[in-house]
Amino acid sequence: MDAAAAAAERPARPDPPTAEEITRYVVAEAVWAPSVHNTQPWCFSAGGQQIRLYADAGRRLTVADPDGREMMISCGAALFTARLALRSLGYVPETRVLPDPADPTLVAQVSWRGQAAVTDYERHLFGQVRQRRTHRGAFDPVPLSLKLLAALREGAARDGATLRIVTDDGQRAALAAIIETAERALRLDSERVQELVRWAPPPGSPRRDGVPATSYPARAEHTDPDFPGRDFAHGRGWGLPPLSSAPLFRAAGVAGLLTTADDHPVDWVNAGQALQRILLTASTCGVAAALHSQPLELGWLREFIRTWLSDRGYPHLVLRLGTVIQVATSVRRPPADVLRFSPRH
Ligand SMILES: Cc1cc2nc3c(=O)[nH]c(=O)nc-3n(C[C@H](O)[C@H](O)[C@H](O)COP(=O)(O)O)c2cc1C
Repeated sequence: MDAAAAAAERPARPDPPTAEEITRYVVAEAVWAPSVHNTQPWCFSAGGQQIRLYADAGRRLTVADPDGREMMISCGAALFTARLALRSLGYVPETRVLPDPADPTLVAQVSWRGQAAVTDYERHLFGQVRQRRTHRGAFDPVPLSLKLLAALREGAARDGATLRIVTDDGQRAALAAIIETAERALRLDSERVQELVRWAPPPGSPRRDGVPATSYPARAEHTDPDFPGRDFAHGRGWGLPPLSSAPLFRAAGVAGLLTTADDHPVDWVNAGQALQRILLTASTCGVAAALHSQPLELGWLREFIRTWLSDRGYPHLVLRLGTVIQVATSVRRPPADVLRFSPRH
């Protein structure tokens, strides 16, 4: 059989996706990144084989996050997710972080040209993008494997950040006490309380941003030491009812600190990329994370952590890791709300 006849017999291959289809796919995944108070402080502009990720400063927490550090961490998490989505299609992303000094809101420019086979690691991570949820409460009293913790540390280093697992009981108790101190201070600050209330919609709200009542427990789950969560319900009894099957003894989980060596916007973006890699990697092993940024929003407590608990690395988040039956759900704005195609790209 000659080549032409053989080709005629082969089933027709589907056309490769267009740049626009790839872009829509990537952005639809990227929006599932975690963000502070689910502010989703990002927007995307696209043209040809390139996507630009911008920070949406209108969604920055003006009281809690005056410098935009948490906003950039959130955008970093979206950037990691966008890169991973491209990999899931076999494309090799080429990324420039903060490419334009004249425009600090341009977080990254991602383009794609070459292709490479998708690895199992990438496939597994990608499979968790929509499954992963922030946990708010206690964990099952089950130890985590040292192999996983090592993988999480190595993963953070790949993105230019450090994950410090707090193994010393005294330091762990100190970290818990710092979070409690921060949480008390935040609850006494009316401006901060009002800001949190704005990002905590009531049950049944049609909003597609903010922290929904389906994502936190109605009754705080205490642990020893206790790492108090944010007061999203603000005393109104909102939240998920307790699971009747929850075991009596519940644990705080493995505590960690995500830090970077410097404290510039590029470090914040790196921290966000590392965060999403950590969360997705943990999720592939059925491990969830609770995030605490309360003490990092108060300069004096952030400095205390830096001096005493993180070897002078700049701390960005406290994480607790553990296994749990995940019932929380979250929301996102539709990708079309955050994506613009620009012919002059
Ligand atoms: C920089 C940053 C800070 C965060 N701080 C907290 C926090 O202090 N408490 C909390 O419960 N969740 C925190 N989160 C998690 C977000 O609330 C969560 O990602 C968002 O509500 C979306 O939900 P999901 O992660 O389940 O998709 C933080 C996330 C980021 C990226």
